[in-house]
Amino acid sequence: MTHPLAVAVLAAGKGTRMRSQLPKVLHPLGGRTLVENVLASLDQVQPERQIAIVGYLADEVRSALAHVSELEFVEQTEQLGTGHAVQQVIPALAGFEGNLLVLNGDVPLLRPETIAKMVQTHVDNNNAATILTAQFDDPTGYGRVFCDDNYIVSEIIEHRDCTPDQRNNKRINSGIYCFNWPKLMPVLPPLKSDNDQKEYYLTDVVKELAPVMALDVDDIEEISGINNRKQLSDAATVLQDRIKDELMLSGITMINPDSITIDATVSVAPDVVIEPETHLRGTTTIAAGCHIGPGTLIENSAIGAGTTVRYSVVSDSTIEGAGQIGPYTHLRRQAILGEGCRVGNFVEIKQSQLGNNTNAAHLSYLGNATLGDKVNIGAGTITANYDGVNKHPTVIKDNTKTGSNSVLVAPVTLGENVTVGAGAVVTKDVDANCLIVTRGERRVIKDWQPKLTNKNAPKKS
Ligand code: UD1
Ligand code: CA
Repeated sequence: MTHPLAVAVLAAGKGTRMRSQLPKVLHPLGGRTLVENVLASLDQVQPERQIAIVGYLADEVRSALAHVSELEFVEQTEQLGTGHAVQQVIPALAGFEGNLLVLNGDVPLLRPETIAKMVQTHVDNNNAATILTAQFDDPTGYGRVFCDDNYIVSEIIEHRDCTPDQRNNKRINSGIYCFNWPKLMPVLPPLKSDNDQKEYYLTDVVKELAPVMALDVDDIEEISGINNRKQLSDAATVLQDRIKDELMLSGITMINPDSITIDATVSVAPDVVIEPETHLRGTTTIAAGCHIGPGTLIENSAIGAGTTVRYSVVSDSTIEGAGQIGPYTHLRRQAILGEGCRVGNFVEIKQSQLGNNTNAAHLSYLGNATLGDKVNIGAGTITANYDGVNKHPTVIKDNTKTGSNSVLVAPVTLGENVTVGAGAVVTKDVDANCLIVTRGERRVIKDWQPKLTNKNAPKKS
């Protein structure tokens, strides 16, 4: 027998305690939004439906999640409680015969293994509901789960609705549940809001269902919710430790990992060394044998095998392999470097392509440029690509060498094997195999002294 699974992610709340213009579920954590982290915890189950319940700034949440093609959206126009939120999926799940996993959009540290285990426990025991729970030393604020020695739950009572005696129960409700949908559906519409908050509580369905089972998580960090920025920062620390521990165990060396941050979306091959104060973000991939850092930021970039990057910033760019980058290099907006390129001190490369074994070692700006193989860019070479309105291209073909402090005024093409003299200002195309020199002729004036006058000297009468 198969057990189809649907997922409802509660993401309609404002998140008042974040004190932010941004809806809580869109705050970033480890390179993804909170709610994207929640969706990532579904990795080991195969839901056939995924529904996000949106409300507060619904359009913003929808557009931030538009890339998740399998996600459906249901709107909860007024936030009248978690039970009311789940009532909103009733039309969407008409006729659905499987289980419904309910996740809070603000619980981002759940492991895929935990979700898989919970669904399995639910199916194996043929439960009406299975609730992820934990024993907290300080359960203040959480709903308390009341169950017997066999983990069969009788009810959940919110902290504020508990008697002092009930508050001594340390087993808390994580807000993560698996329900048998055909059993849950009929008990949702009759929910009442006769509680301290006058909200429709999802937790009240527990009294109407049987059997309901509690499943304690092994690691309580997994179910901590984010309500304020302090908790967001604590969660980031937990996530960073997880990401870096996993990478180190997979064969990556990190020097002083506490000073390194790596997004969950980054992939790093074995035998990479990452030095202190290095930050890898977004869709970055680092191939085997690279040495990254110290002091480097790489975002949304692909770094090919055997590349060294030191004290540099690389964004939205590609280094094909065996590159030597830095110190103090800035590659951005589709800089694409071929194999074996050396790019060094105070060089900025934007929207440009370098062939193989091409170097720009010092003090240059290359923008909208296409360079061939074995080009050598002299210190201080600038592509003057902007006329104040438009950007223009520069083409530099194989084996060409530019002299120190040369300015290539785009649009301009230098053929193969050109040599540009130091200090040249190149405004027109140069054919292959030519030397171009544009400086004025040298003049040496012998025995020359400056005419010095002292303005303050008393005037001769
Ligand atoms: C809820 C549980 C509590 C549990 C805690 C765990 C209820 C009644 N209580 O309390 O037992 O210990 O989570 O963190 O369910 N949301 C909506 N629409 C609404 C209300 C909430 O989408 O109308 C969303 C919120 O955006 C949030 C989630 O549901 O993602 C939880 O809501 P919240 O108000 O934070 O519930 P808690 O008071 O934390
Ligand atoms: Ca909460």
